[in-house]
Amino acid sequence: MEESESSAKPIFFATPVTDPFSDLESPVPIVDLDRLDRNLDRAARYAGEHRLALRPHIKTHKSPRLAAEQLKRGAVGLTCATPFEAEVMSEVANDILLAYPPVGARRARRVAGLSEDVRLTVALDSATAADDLASAARAADRPISVYVELDLGMHRVGLPVVDDAIALARRIQDAKPLAFGGIAFYPGHIREPVDSQDAKLDALRSSLGEALARFEQAGLAPRAVSGGSTPTMWHTHEIPGVTEFRPGTYIFNDRTTAEIGACDWDDCALTVLATVVSTAVPGQAVIDAGSKALGREPLRGTSGADEGFGSLLEHPEVVVKGMSEEHGLLDLSRTTWRPVVGERVRVIPNHVCIVVHLNDVVFGVRGTTVETSWPVAARGRGYGAPLGAEATA
Ligand SMILES: Cc1ncc(COP(=O)(O)O)c(C=O)c1O
Repeated sequence: MEESESSAKPIFFATPVTDPFSDLESPVPIVDLDRLDRNLDRAARYAGEHRLALRPHIKTHKSPRLAAEQLKRGAVGLTCATPFEAEVMSEVANDILLAYPPVGARRARRVAGLSEDVRLTVALDSATAADDLASAARAADRPISVYVELDLGMHRVGLPVVDDAIALARRIQDAKPLAFGGIAFYPGHIREPVDSQDAKLDALRSSLGEALARFEQAGLAPRAVSGGSTPTMWHTHEIPGVTEFRPGTYIFNDRTTAEIGACDWDDCALTVLATVVSTAVPGQAVIDAGSKALGREPLRGTSGADEGFGSLLEHPEVVVKGMSEEHGLLDLSRTTWRPVVGERVRVIPNHVCIVVHLNDVVFGVRGTTVETSWPVAARGRGYGAPLGAEATA
């Protein structure tokens, strides 16, 4: 039957869609505050139940305000990767681990120059890094505790040979005001679905156990053994010897974390609010979130062929199949949903830490109310101010 002119809906007029976030420009990261609270509480509870020290890695949120929430819930301190992160976080924390080798005199000076109110620990794996740090610590006249980093399977940083690690610990003990504070490792090679991690966790348990025994025989029993990640988070208590864990992603979670079962889909707290800007090409819709909003991050830990760069909160079957810098291409081949131009969607990114780092501000929403916002204060390197200050000194 032919439709009359009056009842036919011209395809170029969009059905009005109620948009609770109409005051927000897009693309923009928004955090569901109820989910955020749940993620924070769950980790704090787990740490308490298993008597593990929680030292969250702040590279995920880069916000002193969120760091303060982690500390309020019992975190013993924070973990940072860059001197700038540590500088920014020293506003709210008096115990910071720099889990990154402070190689180079300038970097080491910057680290040793952190506020004296901060109890500082640094993880490193070379005599060069230890010597650079020792010189800077002497010049700044401050004690710094050092974790010797072991490679327990990730093959990124960390000493693979225990005797070398013991020799480095001895060197550190002899380099006052440095002090050997313990051992660090990062199980970043374990990214399988949580129920398929057993073999790698077994190998980790065995190599860590052997290393700890050797350190003890050498009279260097470490006070702290720092490990942990979001994919392995709920297994941390099953790794004997570990005293503290450093998850970062858990605060927001992301598509990778949900895909491997380290969180539920409704634990994904951060989404990128985006607007459909074109439906002109059949089979797809284009949103204003491209690689400069989502990052070009692969889905890690899964072997799916057509993984894309994120999936939609409201339509999980829809993935971002391709990207330019400011365009994200939604694959509509597996959905009956037909978006219209102007419609808003929320993308769960593959890797949330990169998304945060790409933005100046994050908005916090409760249900459909935009409640608050905070700056991503520790994004970037913070080079400008210190160099400018030095130049005018
Ligand atoms: C040294 C170190 N520790 C802890 C973490 C936190 O890992 P995740 O984000 O998986 O929790 C990272 C992440 O890159 C890391 O590099």
